[in-house]
This record gives sequence, C-alpha cells and structure tokens, in this order.
Amino acid sequence: MIIAIDGPAASGKSTVAQRVAAALGVRFLDTGSMYRAVTWRVQVRDLDVSDEDACGAVAEGLELTFDAAGRIQLDGEPGEPHIRSAEVNRDVSVVAAHPRVRRAVVAMQRAIARGYSVVAEGRDTTTIVFPEAEHKFFLIASPLERARRRAEQEGAPERTAQYVRDLARRDELDSTRADSPLREAEDAMRIDTDGRTVDEVVTQVLEHIGR
Ligand code: CDP
Repeated sequence: MIIAIDGPAASGKSTVAQRVAAALGVRFLDTGSMYRAVTWRVQVRDLDVSDEDACGAVAEGLELTFDAAGRIQLDGEPGEPHIRSAEVNRDVSVVAAHPRVRRAVVAMQRAIARGYSVVAEGRDTTTIVFPEAEHKFFLIASPLERARRRAEQEGAPERTAQYVRDLARRDELDSTRADSPLREAEDAMRIDTDGRTVDEVVTQVLEHIGR
C-alpha cells in the first residue's frame, strides 16, 4: 500500500507522514531529503547549481538510502544536519528543477518503495512518483503559520519574517517549474492544517484510510 502526501514547504507533511508511517508500522519516505542530499553534494563539490548536467551527474552517481530511523545516508554517510543548512535551503529548488536530477531521484524513490508499504511525502509523490497510490493527501497551511512552524523548529522565532520570504520563494520555484511542478492531485484529499495540532491531522489521515 502506498500513501502519498504532498504540499508546499513547511506545511507539516514530514511530521504527519512520519507519524502515520509509525502508526501503520510501514516505511516513511521523505523525498525532499533526497533533493536536499543532491544539493549538498553539489555544493561540497563546488559545482554550479544551475548546471543541469553537473547536478544530474551527481544525482546519478549518488547512492541514497535511509537508516532504520528514516534518516538519509549519502553513500553510507549521514546527511543530517547538513542537508537542512541555509545554503541548501537557498539552492534546493534550483537543483530539484533539473529534469535529469528528477529522473535519477524518482527512480531511486520507486526502487526504495518496490515491494513495501510506504508513506511518501514531497511535492510530486501524488502526481508523478506514485500516481497509483491508494491514498493521497494535500496538506496546506497559511504562509505565516508555515513560517512560524519552521522558525520554531529551528529554535529561532525571530526569523519568522525571513522564513515567510524564503518559503514563498521556494513555493514559487516549485510550482512554476516545467518538470513535475507542485500541484494538487485531483484525487487527493485536501487538509488545511492551520490552527490544528499534529495529532488532529494524523487522526484525520488515519480515519480516512480506515485505520
Ligand atoms: O521540509 P520542506 O517543506 O522545507 O522541504 P522538503 O520537503 O525537504 O523539500 C525541499 C525541496 O526539495 C522542495 O522545496 C523542492 O524544491 C524539492 N522537492 C521536490 O522537488 N520534489 C519532491 N518530491 C520533494 C521535494
């Protein structure tokens, strides 16, 4: 069984998907962490993030796996916390827009899910990666609420205004790119998480899938 959850930056997808996967006892697939990992590797190698072939070659040559706790590994080395840096936040949507990068990363996502039940989350898991998913959700929240959550996560509430701008920029890039833009699947259930606790959203998802 595949459960796919998409939505804009910091809409609560990761937390909800992780909790739903734990409740069901199945794998959790954080697809965004894979684009972050490619971006980090491109930066470490000092390559140009706007060079599709350079970024594509990095993605094709990188083995991305997840440890038992669901944390990403690059050729066996932990990606956290590097993949959450301000530099990666700045460049990830540019790297993720390259079709050659997406082809390599989507192939790895499908290989990871093959033969397993998974809860996948990202921007295109309901539309492109797993269009046949049994259950699809699209999470939304207001820009201010999303920025507040991200700032809180980072332990830096004073950065809320900056996050409003950062998230808006990333949403714009993710929604307007030609290959696999962020969009709401017609058969996805939309959940507005504004003013709702993680528990409430997780309960709604589990009820909807009949668990
Ligand atoms: O956690 P947050 O919402 O900040 O972002 P993320 O899920 O870690 O994704 C980081 C970036 O990767 C997004 O802004 C997209 O540019 C890209 N991404 C994508 O293109 N397709 C996906 N399925 C997931 C992420």
